[in-house]
Amino acid sequence: MKSVNYLLFSCLFIIIHPFSPVVKGQSPVKHIASDTFKPGEVWPDKDGNHIQAHGGGIIRIKNTYFWYGEQRGKGLDPKYRYVSCYSSKDLLNWKFRGNVVKMLPPDSLTAYWVLERPKVFYNAKSKKYIMYFHVDDRNYKVAQVGIAVSDKPDGEYKFVKRFRPLGHESRDIGQFIDDDGTAYLVFEDRPFGFRIARLSDDYMDVEKEMTLVKAHMEGGAIVHYNGLYYSIGSALTGWNANPNKYSTAPTLEGPWTEFKDIAPVKTNTYGSQSTMLIKVVGTKKTTVIFMGDVWKPKTQYDSRYIWMPLEIGDGKLWLPEPKPWKLNIKTGETQILF
Ligand code: DGJ
Repeated sequence: MKSVNYLLFSCLFIIIHPFSPVVKGQSPVKHIASDTFKPGEVWPDKDGNHIQAHGGGIIRIKNTYFWYGEQRGKGLDPKYRYVSCYSSKDLLNWKFRGNVVKMLPPDSLTAYWVLERPKVFYNAKSKKYIMYFHVDDRNYKVAQVGIAVSDKPDGEYKFVKRFRPLGHESRDIGQFIDDDGTAYLVFEDRPFGFRIARLSDDYMDVEKEMTLVKAHMEGGAIVHYNGLYYSIGSALTGWNANPNKYSTAPTLEGPWTEFKDIAPVKTNTYGSQSTMLIKVVGTKKTTVIFMGDVWKPKTQYDSRYIWMPLEIGDGKLWLPEPKPWKLNIKTGETQILF
């Protein structure tokens, strides 16, 4: 009887205790506003669920950031592919705004189709939110982008079309919005390298190629920092991490320098893969954040994130060893702890 009571008490304690430290998939924990980024750890949203926004992209609308990514939470209906949306004022505490895409395979694709790496652009003229994502079949042979459109940042996004940008194969995609507001798609064109191409005025098409960087890289991301363009990407090793690299150029057209490592080779980018570079222009400092995915292919719902402020400038870029850190979203200043 004693042990039954003990068991009951333990169960009750586990159910109501607000600080259970483990988040697996969708098991919620109490959200306590955080002031510290903890790279590689479970990252609870405001409902206490681990953030599901893998292979993601971020846009800023006024003072709110929106993070879109692959929703890979537990218990999803396998018939659909989902894109999640989160919002935040500080890039650290995120509110889940819902699954803004819940899609069946478009036209001739079959049940095992792939929707990866969603990126949303806001078009100020049409006031529409235009989402690009990688569309593929299970063998990654289709190699297209899909477009879905919404009137609001948090959806619902309606699928419009899928195509090969400028007629080229396109697998991993990245987004880049330059300081003058021009929007670009970065896409991996397997036979040749990766391309950076400007979107059309309404963002509903990929219009003009800026460059073909002849390097076989995916997870492509770009930042414009102190008059120089920096591009980063990973090698093509599926879900396995590899040493990510960077290159620089004075203009998007190039010439791009040889690619160099962004972290000690043996760390394989600390087990992560690039997905975006976020520039925070503060009142005192401009900080560039490396946004990377730590994939867990067998338990995708538990895939993590490594975000770290980069050491960047004068043509050099370096990802410091991931450690807890703080960001002052107003001043742009950062502090790496320990
Ligand atoms: C690597 C890509 O970067 C990911 O987005 C995903 O497509 C995996 N390959 C699939 O193996």
